[in-house]
Amino acid sequence: MTGPLVVTTTGAEATRDLAAALAELARPGDLVVLVGDLGAGKTVFTQGLGRGLGIDEQITSPTFALVQSYVGRLDLHHLDVYRLDQVNEALDLGLAEMLDDDAVMVIEWGDTIAPVLPHDYLEVRLSYGDDGDERRVELVAVGHRWSARGRALATVVDRVMGGDDGPASEGPADEGPADEGPASEGPASEGPADEGPSSEGPASEGPADEGPADEGPAGAGPAPDRSPADGGGT
Ligand SMILES: Nc1ncnc2c1ncn2[C@@H]1O[C@H](COP(=O)(O)OP(=O)(O)OP(=O)(O)O)[C@@H](O)[C@H]1O
Ligand SMILES: [Mg+2]
Repeated sequence: MTGPLVVTTTGAEATRDLAAALAELARPGDLVVLVGDLGAGKTVFTQGLGRGLGIDEQITSPTFALVQSYVGRLDLHHLDVYRLDQVNEALDLGLAEMLDDDAVMVIEWGDTIAPVLPHDYLEVRLSYGDDGDERRVELVAVGHRWSARGRALATVVDRVMGGDDGPASEGPADEGPADEGPASEGPASEGPADEGPSSEGPASEGPADEGPADEGPAGAGPAPDRSPADGGGT
């Protein structure tokens, strides 16, 4: 099982840079689940991901639409499921179809709809650091699809963070070294990933329910009630 990679970013741009670099590893059909309190940086992370995917359009919170799609080197579906009342509503969004779309899908608050997601994604947990502009970013590979890229992930993180926080790379030995190139169309080393949401490969680890937001002073964060209209800018 891949150990989580943990780094601290100082400032939104650093989070974007990290996400943009991670986009190099993205492949068609990938799912990225963003976990973190209000204002933790999920949208900022998505903006960086978008930049790394070659998306020129400005990415904002998909507050009204729930889903926004962007065209890039790889297309990106950006979802924010904060306002979904029930997991069932997530199904109505057509998640499965979107995942089949050869695009990358990123879901803010994705942990809240985990039961309807394939057990195969990169979970990015963002939490507040000690300083106002510090964020702890934890990358957890859930399922084979991302676990297989564990070492590449660690390499990218090391490169971007420049030894900053000494990322805890535990380097899983499980992937081909040539894997680091930008998403070549074929899912080179992992096969079954895009075959269907729920049942495929009940990957042995289940980190998804380990209590994402239990560390750090995040509880002191913003009010629990965000107003959709003004969150859109970032
Ligand atoms: N290190 C950092 N990483 C990311 N954002 C940071 C950082 N430091 C400060 N910020 C600021 O924190 C805010 C993060 O906002 P963002 O909209 O990305 O949060 P969010 O997690 O998407 O919130 P919401 O749950 O409301 O969608 C931005 O205003 C950003 O400038
Ligand atoms: Mg957001």
